Amino acid sequence: MTVTPTGTHISGVLHERRRFEPPEQFAARARLHAEQLAALHERARQDYLGFWRELAVSQLNWHKPFSITLDEREAPNYRWFCDGELNVSHECLDVQIIAGRGEKAAIRFEAETGEVRRISYRELYLQVCQLANALKSLGVRAGDRVVIYLPLVPEAIVAMQACARIGAIHSVVFGGFSALALRERIADAGACLVITADGGRRAGQIVQLKAAVDSALAERCESVRNVIVLRHAGNPIPMQADRDLWWQPLCEAQSPRCEPQWVPAEHPLFLLHTSGSTGRPKGIQHSSAGYLLNVKLTCQWVFDLREEDVFWCTADVGWVTGHSYVCYGPLANGATIVMYEGAPTYPDGGRFWKICQDHGVTILYTAPTAIRALMRLGDEIPARYDLSSLRLLGSVGEPINPEAWMWYHRVIGGGRCPIVDTWWQTETGAIMISPVPGVTATKPGSCTLPLPGVFADILDEAGEPVRRPEAGGYLVITKPWPSLARTIWGDNERYLNTYWRRFDGRCYLAGDGAYRDQDGYFWIVGRIDDVLNVSGHRLGTMEIESALVAHVRVAEAAVVGRPHEIKGEGILAFVVCRGARPGDADVDAIAQELRDWVAAQLSPIARPDEIRFADALPKTRSGKIMRRLLRAIGRNEPLTQDVSTLENPGIVAQLRGERAAGTP
Ligand code: PRX
Repeated sequence: MTVTPTGTHISGVLHERRRFEPPEQFAARARLHAEQLAALHERARQDYLGFWRELAVSQLNWHKPFSITLDEREAPNYRWFCDGELNVSHECLDVQIIAGRGEKAAIRFEAETGEVRRISYRELYLQVCQLANALKSLGVRAGDRVVIYLPLVPEAIVAMQACARIGAIHSVVFGGFSALALRERIADAGACLVITADGGRRAGQIVQLKAAVDSALAERCESVRNVIVLRHAGNPIPMQADRDLWWQPLCEAQSPRCEPQWVPAEHPLFLLHTSGSTGRPKGIQHSSAGYLLNVKLTCQWVFDLREEDVFWCTADVGWVTGHSYVCYGPLANGATIVMYEGAPTYPDGGRFWKICQDHGVTILYTAPTAIRALMRLGDEIPARYDLSSLRLLGSVGEPINPEAWMWYHRVIGGGRCPIVDTWWQTETGAIMISPVPGVTATKPGSCTLPLPGVFADILDEAGEPVRRPEAGGYLVITKPWPSLARTIWGDNERYLNTYWRRFDGRCYLAGDGAYRDQDGYFWIVGRIDDVLNVSGHRLGTMEIESALVAHVRVAEAAVVGRPHEIKGEGILAFVVCRGARPGDADVDAIAQELRDWVAAQLSPIARPDEIRFADALPKTRSGKIMRRLLRAIGRNEPLTQDVSTLENPGIVAQLRGERAAGTP
């Protein structure tokens, strides 16, 4: 769905004026200083191809050097470094061991039960080689697709790296997805093998992964020959004799060496399905070399990653963030990562902060939704833990509201850690717009400026750049970059239609609305399909949410549009209060207070028509608010969405059954 042209702009009405210079201590030691960053930008502007060529030569270990930097013959299906050869697993493991990191911890894993495992680069290499050999013994060849459906355990990384080692294309399916969603993805990829576990652990419960695989494979998945099953949660499961194999005995029997399969730079590294506007998930296809180059570089530029860092990206490997900043980027830099399998609030709201303390986490990268959920529990909980090891904080996945930004900065970062608000997408592969922490002054809620080599712009309906500050439009990237998604698996037409045809193939359409402020800083307003048009004014749902969350009573808010007789589109806000949900006696007064508050904070046009209170918002297991579901609830439409992936399925009935309050 796109915004209907009305001649008006996506306007920025959230006026955030606070500005934070990089802390001096941080800036003094940073990998990138102002002059170096300026030189990188300048180089990219002067000689775009030379810029990427030099980085690809200096950052990656080529088995066969490339001579072509960018092949544009089939633009916008761009090809980077295409006559070169390398192997991504070789970069993440062999290269690190050769550099002397064999005994260094690659992974520090903490289970929900509290059990801790440390895995060195050498141990990881061994496990990857054994699984790679096991895959080969089962007939998996370069270019074959392997679906990975595992909990967030080190073996998920082993599985991804093992595929990369033999040139098989992995497709990780988030462990919180239902059997139906899994089947759809297996069938779309035409996978020959599935790697799963008996079960996963979350909030003290066992997630029945193998059962979901069995049910998925019951139909439409004839391409699957084998299932490798990791013994993890210990729950009893049936094994199908001619199809299923236990991971442990299978791997133990394998040789501990497996030569990497050298693949062309453009060889697909993975597919990752993501939702599109039609509801049918699209398999975003990434390359090997170009992808790795951007994820490796952004770890250095954005996370200032150093040898001694302990890097914790809390994302599941089922999402792109878990691919780029758990599995590939940090390991290609020889870093130590933390992995935690479990709920952030299990057994209590201090779990995240305890993990930071116990593992000496120096860089924490998480999502605004997690920050808000933890903020809601109060400052006393993080205050119980020693968070002094932290030196940098990151945010990703949605616009972070200034309220949550300030809390993250003050309570978690102790005022000394820069915050990198990183804008990117499954399709971009790596971070595109973000502060460089030792250089860029930050503003709460802005992802600031494009990284070197990223040419972002904002276009109006006619495709003209929007120059006026705070006037919004479509966020686009005007030059290709190495980690750009190559296509949608099996549907290049959809790839061209979704991302390129809106502006005649000239630039990549991100699907987000955004505006720039006086300093040229980018502010993401939200998905263009989440932009409301109220009485001819476009309003970002996020801005209204941000205003609501800035009210002392409000912990979380989600705003959706719904048809309105006079205004075209009206505003419905779902609100979760701090503490208890308002009772019948005061619900109307509080709703009125919040409506007035928003009107005062933003503009009377942004005043919600109705506010509904709930105990929680409906979220996917990855923590994203299910806006389409909320829209359907708001319009009293029958629900067509798969609610089986909801973290809290009971909430739907509550949101529907609530008595409407605050309607004028
Ligand atoms: O709307 C933007 C939002 O998340 C979308 C991409 O979602 P996905 O492909 O699932 O990838 C999420 C992790 C990279 C974007 O189109 N988004 C992501 N990061 C930010 C953001 N919105 C605002 N600020 C961000 N930092």
